[in-house]
Amino acid sequence: MQARILLIVGGGIAAYKACELVRLIRKAGMSVRCVLTDGGAQFVTPMTLAALSEQAVHTSLWDLKDEAEMGHIQLSREADLVVVAPATADLLARMAAGIADDLATTLLLATDKPVLAAPAMNVRMWQHAATRRNVERLRADGVTVLEPDEGPMACGEFGPGRLPEPEAILRNIQASLGTSGRLSGRHVLVTAGPTHEPIDPVRYIANRSSGKQGFAIAAALAYLGARVTLVSGPVTLPTPAGVTRIDVETARDMAAAIDTALPADAAILVAAVADWRVEPSGSKIKKQGTPPSLSFAENPDILAGLAADPRRPALVVGFAAETDDVIANATAKRARKGADWIVANDVSGDVMGGADNRVHLVTEAGVEDWEQMPKDQVAARLADRIADALA
Ligand code: CTP
Repeated sequence: MQARILLIVGGGIAAYKACELVRLIRKAGMSVRCVLTDGGAQFVTPMTLAALSEQAVHTSLWDLKDEAEMGHIQLSREADLVVVAPATADLLARMAAGIADDLATTLLLATDKPVLAAPAMNVRMWQHAATRRNVERLRADGVTVLEPDEGPMACGEFGPGRLPEPEAILRNIQASLGTSGRLSGRHVLVTAGPTHEPIDPVRYIANRSSGKQGFAIAAALAYLGARVTLVSGPVTLPTPAGVTRIDVETARDMAAAIDTALPADAAILVAAVADWRVEPSGSKIKKQGTPPSLSFAENPDILAGLAADPRRPALVVGFAAETDDVIANATAKRARKGADWIVANDVSGDVMGGADNRVHLVTEAGVEDWEQMPKDQVAARLADRIADALA
């Protein structure tokens, strides 16, 4: 059956991109019905959206003709997914507060379907404490709020706040609906982020991993229809659409979460796991003249453990963050840990936390050098290769 999207178009300059989104949704084989807020109607006309969607466009809560043809509640029930794009700061605030003072917000309050919001606003509005609070509230309520893109803005400023590109919104729609296929029916485990190893109740050992590459891989796998379990160390990233996330703190928690999540068809271990832990003190270590000495114990190697496990996934992929002899170290690591593939990267620059990555894929067949690209493109390419390998 054709998936049905209800698209709510808010009032921002990015509303013009909603036209392209409607076109892409139709091209992907889904139907789309549009609702325009008053603000949205200042930027695109109902006529444009009606022509592109080939469906009536709804604008008013008080339109008797609309109400006679299709009840407002029914509008939101007759969709498989509600998409808000662009989601303005005002619309996000009204959604977070549960306000229902126009057709869009009434539908959002009345719906029992998943909601995906693609924000677009000025960078300062996006970074304002009120918007941060509203986004956090909405995510806790189960709404998938995408991260806006970063770049030059219509208002002349620069930063996060641009509407994600329509292609990216479409990918998230497909991930939410689990409809794009190649990995459907497959279960894939992904680890991401750093681990924190406590020293005492207030201190811990950590590393610079941001989780971006691992989260992008989880999103790319979900986009291909996989059931993805993402075991994440402490990071500040939103959960990608369609992904089940388990938050952990230490390496041992991560190992236990992976063990519980088995069986799986593939495991992609991207996390920067702490190699060592200390026996944490139950109370805060006080300054007493000489600095304390920490004694370390080795953490379990999750990758090596999984590769040797009788329940070993058919494909086990590790990452190797190296600063020297990248390929030689990665090749040795592949053999030592029993992984099928190692994705190696040079982390001596600003890769950790950065937006781009340049990786080498080390497999039984040899080494492939991939050009530098954004982390989500590395993820899409790797997910594609994983789908090929599992096919
Ligand atoms: N890894 C793991 N468990 C650990 C350490 C690492 O699962 N305790 C995984 C990482 O998720 C990654 C791969 O092993 O996929 C390589 O991690 P890396 O830190 O580069 O390897 P190490 O074993 O720590 O080797 P070294 O520190 O000597 O480079």
